Amino acid sequence: GLEAQEAIDRLCVVVPDVPSAGILFRDLTPVFSDAAAFRTIIDALSEPFAGEFDAVAGVEARGFLLAGAVAYATGTGVVAIRKAGKLPRSVYREAYDLEYGQAELEIHQSDLPAGARVLVLDDVLATGGTLAAACALLERAGAVVAACAVVLEIDGLGGRDALAERTLHTLHSV
Ligand code: PRP
Ligand code: MG
Repeated sequence: GLEAQEAIDRLCVVVPDVPSAGILFRDLTPVFSDAAAFRTIIDALSEPFAGEFDAVAGVEARGFLLAGAVAYATGTGVVAIRKAGKLPRSVYREAYDLEYGQAELEIHQSDLPAGARVLVLDDVLATGGTLAAACALLERAGAVVAACAVVLEIDGLGGRDALAERTLHTLHSV
């Protein structure tokens, strides 16, 4: 809601030329470190989906800061979608495009019961490659993606289109 937008506007720091010349890095860490703002965004991320999910998934690394808190606040469990090579048991793996090159995410094959409805969280939606890969992993693991939710959507990079028909909830966009 408006309260979340105001907190993000007030606390998000725009860092020019990071990670490279001409890029504006939108740093949400001060939103997370402010107690009232953090509570506001954690509540707002899941608010439209009350009762519609059984677990929360977070994407390493910044999505982890959100997913544990949302899971605790909503009385659900949390699932880790990790960068490749970190999980100890059998995984599914999805490659996705970065600005330069590719990266890979993994999920344990059996962390969720079949048909579990999952709210998928990350901090920022840019090209959507990360969240699209996360959703694909959850579905390969037998879960149902209830919705995706992010704190900040960067317009004009195709993130919404990359998520196609999925339900997407964003607290703010720039
Ligand atoms: C950032 C951000 C999102 C992703 C968004 O993560 O936290 O996860 O990029 O970009 P996309 O929509 O174009 O995929 P990053 O890969 O930098 O890693 P981190 O979360 O581990 O810092
Ligand atoms: Mg990330």
